Amino acid sequence: MNKVSVIGAGNVGATCADVLAHQDVLKEVVLLDIKEGFAEGKALDIWETSPINYYSTRTVGVTNDYAATAGSDVVVITSGVPRKPGMSRDDLISTNAGIVKTVTENVVKHSPDAIIVVVANPLDVMTYCAYLTAGLPSNKVFGMAGILDTARYRAFLATALNVSPKDIQAVLMGGHGDTMVPLPRYTTVGGIPVTEMIGDDELEAIVNRTKKGGGEIVNLLGTSAWYAPGAAAAQMVDAIIKDEQRIFPVCAWLDGQYGLKDIYLGVPVKLGRNGIEQIIELQLNDDEKALLNTSAGHVREVMGVLDGMNITG
Ligand code: NAI
Ligand code: 2OP
Repeated sequence: MNKVSVIGAGNVGATCADVLAHQDVLKEVVLLDIKEGFAEGKALDIWETSPINYYSTRTVGVTNDYAATAGSDVVVITSGVPRKPGMSRDDLISTNAGIVKTVTENVVKHSPDAIIVVVANPLDVMTYCAYLTAGLPSNKVFGMAGILDTARYRAFLATALNVSPKDIQAVLMGGHGDTMVPLPRYTTVGGIPVTEMIGDDELEAIVNRTKKGGGEIVNLLGTSAWYAPGAAAAQMVDAIIKDEQRIFPVCAWLDGQYGLKDIYLGVPVKLGRNGIEQIIELQLNDDEKALLNTSAGHVREVMGVLDGMNITG
């Protein structure tokens, strides 16, 4: 049986731990936070749902005690500040880079074989930060964004078409920001190309709403989303632990794929026990390639800001 640690017991981290516990696949989920007693309280509350929700996975909370995370198979890093209305994800870099670096050092010290799934924003660059700090191969350090972004896209389509979201499959690429690239050409509804089910204008409106989907929630709540992000991170963990070889859009280190090198960017991958088992290269058309390159350019700019901070090494 496996052990997973979730760093940061805030909105996303606690939701991720709760979903993982419901899956009833793991022996233990350790929730760690820097705030005294906070992770303990969240983990206890989640554990107290086990007789109701009928699972055996233990949830344990600790205050900054990395010894409790030792031997984790997967570690999810959600520690970091979320954005407020008017902020972009990139505005978070100065605070979150320091947090992600320190957390990653501690994680690797106690769980040198763990796979690391980064959630903190700005996602692509925080994943890069964890990669530089961890010194692990890139198949073991990657980020969660694409499952969330495609989930939003699929949910919006399900509403517009009045169909079950279960039947909508989609791929989305690029950075986790307004330049992300939903791909209608790779979107199907029960196996039918989405373009046969919806008009161009309505589809374009859904694509644009998806790109700004994070901001829509921030404007409504005053902080960023957690139910869908927590569930998305848990789905990645589940695929890894069960060695499912599932195909998801994931923020992965590219080494020449799509003509891009030395950059973390959202691409379709196969996830299994080794983390990223394969990066899948789609035959993008010229328009799609141009959108992906624009998104990559934006991510590179923010990676440059991290490099300029000289905090990793
Ligand atoms: P939150 O504020 O509810 O929780 C963050 C937690 O991290 C807090 O409890 C805080 O005490 C803890 N923390 C801070 N520094 C720490 C440290 N050094 N060690 C351990 N814990 C520490 O924030 P929320 O809403 O859970 O978001 C967390 C991060 O995830 C944010 O950066 C947010 O932007 C990002 N996010 C990313 C998404 C994605 O798609 N990749 C989606 C949603 C949020
Ligand atoms: C989201 O997309 C803020 O990245 C977070 O909800």
